[in-house]
Amino acid sequence: MIVSIDSAIEHLKNDDVVAIPTETVYGLAARIDSETAVKKIFSTKERPFFDPLIVHVASIDEAKSLTTEWTDEVSTLARAFWPGPLTLVLLKSDRVSDVITSGLPRVGIRMPNHKIALEIIERVGVPLAAPSANKFGKTSPTKSLHVENEFKKENVAVVEGGECDIGIESTVLLVKPQGKTLELSILRHGGVSKTEHIQHQFIEVVSKIESPGHMKHHYMPNIPLVLVNESDFLTPQYILNRLNKEMKNLPDVIEDVKILKPKNDVTHIEEMVLSTNSSLAARELYAKLRESSEKTGTEAIYFVLRDYHLKEEWLGILDRLTKAASLKF
Ligand code: TXA
Ligand code: MG
Repeated sequence: MIVSIDSAIEHLKNDDVVAIPTETVYGLAARIDSETAVKKIFSTKERPFFDPLIVHVASIDEAKSLTTEWTDEVSTLARAFWPGPLTLVLLKSDRVSDVITSGLPRVGIRMPNHKIALEIIERVGVPLAAPSANKFGKTSPTKSLHVENEFKKENVAVVEGGECDIGIESTVLLVKPQGKTLELSILRHGGVSKTEHIQHQFIEVVSKIESPGHMKHHYMPNIPLVLVNESDFLTPQYILNRLNKEMKNLPDVIEDVKILKPKNDVTHIEEMVLSTNSSLAARELYAKLRESSEKTGTEAIYFVLRDYHLKEEWLGILDRLTKAASLKF
């Protein structure tokens, strides 16, 4: 159900959840001071409680109030990327409940670069917790229609904000202030496409470690996606044969996520093609995953991995493609 900004604010004030647009993907938002509303996020998404939520703010002061370790250096980092697709993970203040952080000592904070999102957060007057507005494990939404289709039964209120400009989720960065420096680790590649953009004179990116709630399988469309490495002998027939042979050997469930497998041999596959420009490809990714899997008659989708996909700016996209895929060869 599409609702106006005014009505969305009413819903949020009344402890309800509302899907709002951001520049990365649509988020399913709730005010952080309402436990009822925050719990509604988990039940609506069918999301396990061990997967923490990102808190969205409309000002630096609001961000400061959520953490006990805001330093001048954190401020410089935030000001360089906000509003924008970077989530900073810092020690939480008492303002942030354990439900939001899944009991972890740290909270993810982000200022989205979207006029409507910022207006809603500002007018509600309280930061908003918001994961991507999709059922757990499924493809994230980049259009209001995706959200409506995903939550038909729940009839979630959605604010129309057009197509998301970035198209994949924010980069998540663990930040540990150490005196005048910051120790940084990337927990999830995303909207900030080049790691060097995060590097400042006094800031070092230390390592890449995995976030909690990060599963091997995520972002899955409704039919199997297969990643295939480019090669000379790649023909649709070869892909079909190999897929039919290897699908049979896959387990049905990996890490509690149901792996998509066709019941009988697949006879109709479609190639999913993305722009060669990584920013455009990110913008198209989720809509294409949904659209190719919704085409009648198509039983599986394949995507060809090529040399240029190995460049750093493709990391966020490849991470999602790998997790969305049932099979890779
Ligand atoms: O672009 C985005 O980040 C979107 C929009 C709506 O802002 N949100 C989003 O949220 O992608 P979600 O819930 O789908 O993914 C959030 C992920 C978690 O799965 C977890 O990996 C990481 O961010 N995260 C959140 N809070 C964290 C914390 N306290 N410590 C470590 N990782 C955290
Ligand atoms: Mg998500």
